[in-house]
Amino acid sequence: MKTGIIGAGKVGLSLGKYFVLHGLDVTGYYDVDREAAKEAAEFTGTVSYNELDRLARESDTLFLTVPDGLITTVWNQIKDMSLHGKFICHCSGALSAGEAFPGIDERGAFGYSIHPLFAVSDKYNSYKELSHAYFTIEGNELHLDEVAGWFRGCGNQVRFIQASDKVKYHLAAAVCSNHVVAVIAQSLKLMEECGFDEDSALAALRPLMAGNMDHIVRDGVTKSLTGPVERADAGTVRKHLSVLNENDRQLYKLLSAILVSVGKKKNPGRDYSAIEEIVLH
Ligand SMILES: NC(=O)c1ccc[n+]([C@@H]2O[C@H](COP(=O)([O-])OP(=O)(O)OC[C@H]3O[C@@H](n4cnc5c(N)ncnc54)[C@H](OP(=O)(O)O)[C@@H]3O)[C@@H](O)[C@H]2O)c1
Repeated sequence: MKTGIIGAGKVGLSLGKYFVLHGLDVTGYYDVDREAAKEAAEFTGTVSYNELDRLARESDTLFLTVPDGLITTVWNQIKDMSLHGKFICHCSGALSAGEAFPGIDERGAFGYSIHPLFAVSDKYNSYKELSHAYFTIEGNELHLDEVAGWFRGCGNQVRFIQASDKVKYHLAAAVCSNHVVAVIAQSLKLMEECGFDEDSALAALRPLMAGNMDHIVRDGVTKSLTGPVERADAGTVRKHLSVLNENDRQLYKLLSAILVSVGKKKNPGRDYSAIEEIVLH
């Protein structure tokens, strides 16, 4: 398999370097920014291409690692090239292969969406952490196992997903990653109101946050839940609500309603009716 990469950004460089280090054959890079393609080629010991059609000709597999909104634009640029038998892949979490590559079957090519469940934040360093990433793959049934084999061969865990589940799957990833940032930002705002600056607040909260994450991963959400909602401590919940503005009160109530359902699983005999009365109204 000779892999060409279109889009010399964070994922393009990380994946290319990762493939090369695992002995896979990477032809090289094309990017609208020629300098970026050159840098990527230097970084991976491959070739930079000024013409998209030459990269397509010299590769069996193409990864379109451009921003989500441009994947179909690039597909439209390459779809009339000779793609018969080639694998066309993108890395978007929310887009299916069929959505991204309309008409791919008529071209005799095979489309895949291959999503690393990982925050790829650095062009030149994230590849070092990619061995921890879980890859979620969706696309043409005919070669699914072969595509999964590329990543299994690098030591990664792989899971297949239905095209119709992609948006929900991507949302799940966003909730546990990005939405956690929103909740932590709110916690920091409250700490700052108590006289902490951001650095001291983060240092103070770190054992709580990191310990919580470790417990969740090790023991699951139900066992890990602690706090006033889990204890059905209506008095403390009322006090919390009394210091929040209206918007934050709504958020606290919505999140607490989810915590009540987790608490009921953890403590089937505990009476949560007083808490429910507060958070559901
Ligand atoms: N970063 C992550 O954590 C992550 C994780 C999982 C999946 N993904 C997915 O990976 C894909 C790439 O994301 P990324 O974070 O690597 O984005 P990125 O760092 O912005 O890289 C995209 C690259 O594509 C280039 N590009 C834009 N239009 C192009 C075109 N028409 N032809 C060729 N190259 C073009 C950009 O050049 P310019 O900068 O000059 O525009 C840039 O170098 C997306 O589908 C994203 O959803 C990302």
